[in-house]
Amino acid sequence: MAPQNQAAWITEKSGKPLKVAEAPLPSPGPGEVLIKTAAVAINPVDWKIQDYGIFIPKYPAILGVDLAGTIEEVGEGVTRFQKGQRVMSHAPSLLTGNSTAAAFQHYVASFDTLTSPIPSSLSFEQAVVLPLAISTASAGLYQSDALALPLPSLSPQPSPKSVLIWGGSSSVGSTAIQLAHASGVHVITTASARNADYVRSLGADVVLDYGAGDVEAAVVAEIGKAEAAGKAFAGIYDAISHPETTKAAASIAAKAGLKSDTKVITTLPPPEDLEKSVVPVNVFALTITADAHKHVGDAVWRQYVPEALAQGKLQAKPDALVVGHGLENVQMAMDKQKEGVSAKKVVVTL
Ligand SMILES: NC(=O)c1ccc[n+]([C@@H]2O[C@H](COP(=O)([O-])OP(=O)(O)OC[C@H]3O[C@@H](n4cnc5c(N)ncnc54)[C@H](OP(=O)(O)O)[C@@H]3O)[C@@H](O)[C@H]2O)c1
Repeated sequence: MAPQNQAAWITEKSGKPLKVAEAPLPSPGPGEVLIKTAAVAINPVDWKIQDYGIFIPKYPAILGVDLAGTIEEVGEGVTRFQKGQRVMSHAPSLLTGNSTAAAFQHYVASFDTLTSPIPSSLSFEQAVVLPLAISTASAGLYQSDALALPLPSLSPQPSPKSVLIWGGSSSVGSTAIQLAHASGVHVITTASARNADYVRSLGADVVLDYGAGDVEAAVVAEIGKAEAAGKAFAGIYDAISHPETTKAAASIAAKAGLKSDTKVITTLPPPEDLEKSVVPVNVFALTITADAHKHVGDAVWRQYVPEALAQGKLQAKPDALVVGHGLENVQMAMDKQKEGVSAKKVVVTL
């Protein structure tokens, strides 16, 4: 008998709470895998879609981007996975516009290219913190229209480059630090003082407290020190992308006398009144599947992530904060993420 599917539905624009009800069983198309979901993670985009009524072409719809679970079926052309295998995946519904590819349901059709096996050392709730952050960090660090850093390696050669990752304790920042470190790049980051040891443990070389007196001057000094040590400044990854953080990035570039084509990567649209001292590049995680950047998606998701997870070189961070079990708890979990987290990822097990 075919398995039954259920989902947490958003029934109309800005509809709240999500409603748990039956859903069609997705069928994996070419290049897709059908995953039986065991855990989902909550991202800011989930509650932003609900609150602001954005990104969804048609209601009712299913939200959710991060999932972990077991392969139920593989689509045509998929050779990397087999039924029963434990995986994590970045669900691409915000690209396809199709709810069958959204995470908050028991069966999800995701892209092979955005799925990785997970080692037995990691539980589903641990692994599920990573997928969206991997894609988002990769788009900004590696795409040729972004920072174009050397691709990550299990045995990185030191690179003559440095990067500033603003907001290293966020989900995106935590993975950006780990990937930049795996690219051999000197990493300067900002975080709250309480998260300094945490971001260091991910591979940050220099950690500055963004709440401290003159953090901009401290960053400028560190960029100078790195340059003096032969590490050319490659650009800024603003993992937070509030107007004030992107403006701080521009101000740092001006004070450090950086070239005016220095890029600041943002994960949200940059403020319109940004100083001209930097070139803002707003990235979207799913562009790593586009033809122009497919080599980035492949290098990270296929070549680096599976082995780096197995060897413990890519850590499942920030730690999962499991707030409940079952689709009925996804709304509560979204509300919890909206309240704010510090170096934690809100997770629901299914
Ligand atoms: N474009 C895309 O494809 C894409 C993809 C994913 C996410 N995003 C966006 O990227 C942003 C980050 O998402 P996320 O899930 O990584 O966030 P998150 O984990 O929820 O962010 C929480 C963290 O932000 C840090 N933080 C808050 N204000 C800060 C500041 N002024 N300076 C430095 N750090 C600060 C906190 O650090 P402390 O606790 O250390 O203070 C906390 O650890 C969101 O706006 C999200 O919507 C975009």
